[in-house]
Amino acid sequence: MFTVKVMDYNEGNPELSCHDSESLLDAANKRGIKIPYACKGGGCGMCKIKVEEGDFERGPSSKEVLPDAERTMNYTLACKTYPKSDMKILIDMSKFIHSS
Ligand code: FES
Repeated sequence: MFTVKVMDYNEGNPELSCHDSESLLDAANKRGIKIPYACKGGGCGMCKIKVEEGDFERGPSSKEVLPDAERTMNYTLACKTYPKSDMKILIDMSKFIHSS
């Protein structure tokens, strides 16, 4: 069980607990922390987040919605991301400027 801290949430910086077998998206939903999503299958890109700190495992996900350049910058899809250490994440993608 790892602790994941959400750094940019509008109600403070909530923390959630997440098993390494549970996706960050499911853990956040249980805690009432909203991450937008649609497919839960790594295909739509709506659940994209940025990892600020920590290790994680990434499940299969579309390179169309998460290209290699973004992967190297620690962007990931919450529905396909499983923590391997305590983490800090950013959810609000509107704050990020990046090319896709
Ligand atoms: S919900 Fe579609 S990629 Fe995560």
